[in-house]
Amino acid sequence: MKSAVIRKNYLTYFQTNGHTIVPSSPVLPHDDPTLLFTNAGMNQFKDVFLGKSKRSYVRACSSQKCIRVGGKHNDLDNVGHTRRHLTFFEMLGNFSFGDYFKEEAIKFAWEVALKVFEFDGDRIWPSVFEKDDEAFEIWKRYVPEKRIVRLGEKDNFWAMGDTGPCGPCSELLYDRGSSYSTASNPYEDASGERFLEFWNLVFMQYNRLDAKTLENLPKPSVDTGSGLERVALLKQGVDSVFETDVLRALIRKTEEVSGVRYKEEDHTLAPAFRVISDHMRCLAFAIADGVAPGNTDRGYVLRKVLRRAVRYGKMLGFEKPFLASVLPALVEEMGQDYPELQANAGRIAEILTVEEESFFRTLRRGGSILKEVIERASESTKTISGEDAFKLKDTYGLPFDEILLLAKDQNLQVDSLRFEELEEEAKERSRGQKKTHQQIAGENPFEKFLHEKGPTQFTGYQELTSPAKVIGIFKDGSFVPSLSPEEEGEIILDKTPFYAEMGGQVGDRGSIASESLSFQVTDCKAPYKGVISHLGKLQSGTVSIGMEVTASVDAGRRVKIQNNHTATHLLHWALENVLGKHIKQAGSVVDDERLRFDFTHHKALTKEEIRTIEDLVNDKIRENNPVKSYELSYEAVQKRGDIKQFFGDKYDAEVRVIDIDFSKELCGGTHTSRSGNIGAFRISKESSIASGIRRIEAVTGSAAENFGRESEDLLETVAEKLKSQPQKLLTRVLGLLEENAGLSKELKELKREKLDLAAKDFAAKAETVKGIAFVAEKAPVTSADLRPFADALLEKMRSGVVVLGVDAGEGKCQLIAKVSDDIVKKGIKASDIIQKIAPIVGGSGGGREQLATCGGKDASKIVEALNEVAGILEKA
Ligand code: ALA
Repeated sequence: MKSAVIRKNYLTYFQTNGHTIVPSSPVLPHDDPTLLFTNAGMNQFKDVFLGKSKRSYVRACSSQKCIRVGGKHNDLDNVGHTRRHLTFFEMLGNFSFGDYFKEEAIKFAWEVALKVFEFDGDRIWPSVFEKDDEAFEIWKRYVPEKRIVRLGEKDNFWAMGDTGPCGPCSELLYDRGSSYSTASNPYEDASGERFLEFWNLVFMQYNRLDAKTLENLPKPSVDTGSGLERVALLKQGVDSVFETDVLRALIRKTEEVSGVRYKEEDHTLAPAFRVISDHMRCLAFAIADGVAPGNTDRGYVLRKVLRRAVRYGKMLGFEKPFLASVLPALVEEMGQDYPELQANAGRIAEILTVEEESFFRTLRRGGSILKEVIERASESTKTISGEDAFKLKDTYGLPFDEILLLAKDQNLQVDSLRFEELEEEAKERSRGQKKTHQQIAGENPFEKFLHEKGPTQFTGYQELTSPAKVIGIFKDGSFVPSLSPEEEGEIILDKTPFYAEMGGQVGDRGSIASESLSFQVTDCKAPYKGVISHLGKLQSGTVSIGMEVTASVDAGRRVKIQNNHTATHLLHWALENVLGKHIKQAGSVVDDERLRFDFTHHKALTKEEIRTIEDLVNDKIRENNPVKSYELSYEAVQKRGDIKQFFGDKYDAEVRVIDIDFSKELCGGTHTSRSGNIGAFRISKESSIASGIRRIEAVTGSAAENFGRESEDLLETVAEKLKSQPQKLLTRVLGLLEENAGLSKELKELKREKLDLAAKDFAAKAETVKGIAFVAEKAPVTSADLRPFADALLEKMRSGVVVLGVDAGEGKCQLIAKVSDDIVKKGIKASDIIQKIAPIVGGSGGGREQLATCGGKDASKIVEALNEVAGILEKA
């Protein structure tokens, strides 16, 4: 029975029994940043179990795409070397949300096992949680008591994670027979190879709040999970998941593209086939769902998976990207039931290929350095030093895991302790660079200040000028009572309209003033969360604690910053539209002159894409939509797929949403009130800043107009120089190019004629030695024309020897010798002549019998050298 049929029959059975078939959720759990990847069928129903959300049905079933790699269930290193480990698998499941419980769950499972999977009931051994007498009693109705096993919390209490829904469970184990183990019951079968678990029924009863606290769920529920690959393994009578239909098809394809045969029992090469088929499938599904290999979080895990596949691929002889050529087999096998594979096949192939190319490059680059490092280590302590390992990673991007593996191949150790120390130091350094006056927590003087004075009230969303009171003055690392004229320092107010640099938006500038003082604010920062500090210089008067002042933001500058910030959101939206949902913000800078946006994407944008993005943004600007902002609870935001946020960022309980209808983002920055205020938008530059990360720089408003004008000005200047007009420039330039081509041709002809004439003159000067005509003279041409001149001269002479020299500038010279074929036959060789005279001009040269040249370092000796020729011919 093929996997697709098992999947279909399973779902149909439960549908017939009142369950709604729910499609698999993406492998990227977009509403649960606590989870790296979707790892069980129940993930998408977590809130339903907790009673936090309701569905229109109380019974559901699904076939869920799961990825178990990274995080808790990290089996990556096992994959390929065992019969069962996979990074990606499908989990068949049926669910009851407060509807049926243990009795029906067991009844359904038994019936499916016998009637749908058509298993031999006598081989099924159920396990129950040791204290679950109720489940034990129910099972007694189906199997003899001696086949029901009681197991402890480790095996039979299932929890989604450290917190969340959980409960005791009951598993169905299939006895595969004595050839797998001599164990006669599951208690004795520690590896689980003989009594293979193929279904887990979880009786969801609790919500785990922390390690010690369980609270009851609103209603007892059921969550079951049956690994499709395992059922297929049993149904198809094979002993490894890699022998089941889908994975076997991928292995077949890998055989085809590598030209290497798969032999299951080959311990060296077989793991490579298994790794490639599993990893490629995992990557393809992840990319289809919008996560791509990258540098952070999930992307990093995928990068590791891909690199592992490439490393194994090299064992099969692949030296360039190959995963995309295995992909069609997956689309063929699973595309019917998972149309996202079909829809994204092109993009998956592209992302895989780009990523593989980059890793092959890294391996090649690091490889030669690594060779040196390995040689050094082999000759001495047999240990790669921490310094070398760090250099390989830091400078050549060779992942540490890779270094370990490569070292192992050479029987070398790696000084991991020293490596980690250096890593830590590097991290410290980069943290240190970011620190302006933000010191390690506890040492930060602004933390204490915050405790004493409370947070600065920020009024800058509503106003640009506020009356305020000076509550702190900071200078050279400590708080001071006052500043005198011309002194630089920082002022903290009880409230301020100044935006402190945050989330990529620069700090405001402006002034803090009263009748008696004027302080110019050159920057504004938050040295500790909650404290806003104005950096600048006191221009007149004195400032001291307690003074009443007016804080005024440079409004013109702020308007530009706001426009650029809103434009950044429009750009983010347009990028998703044009390039796809996979793009993820990787950083941004917004100031008054431009905006800069970094995002994950695997290749340079085409001119067409850039234009389309510009057009989309400008259309939205012209729509003049209101830009709304409001606060929501972070919890509420989690449930909304339509609000963009940074996974991994820490947010407060209340978060601010910037909402332009089509674009919603969590953002604390300041924005314009309507998109029309941005005026215009142009992308000024698109570049790459790291592998898989692109950067766009853009300008808005008058800067966007000026951006266009720079090119216009340039065109005008060029047109003026060419005595033309911009609109006629193209015709003018084409005309000039044509004219130029004609002139070049003419010039070439003239030069040839000139050479010809000169050659004729020189031919007349020919002397004779032993009946051989020869010319040995300085040539009246440049060194570039020396060869054509020698050709022309010998042609005129028909028979003879030509030896010429020219000044090549800076005291250097060039010599050439040519001998006609008839003279060569007499034993005179151009190469001999040059070899003899070259030393005179401080050079050496060579060539053939008919033609030889040399360069010399002493042009003053050219004539002396040429004068030797007659003698050489004489003696020949
Ligand atoms: N959620 C349960 C599991 O993953 C069924 O085993």
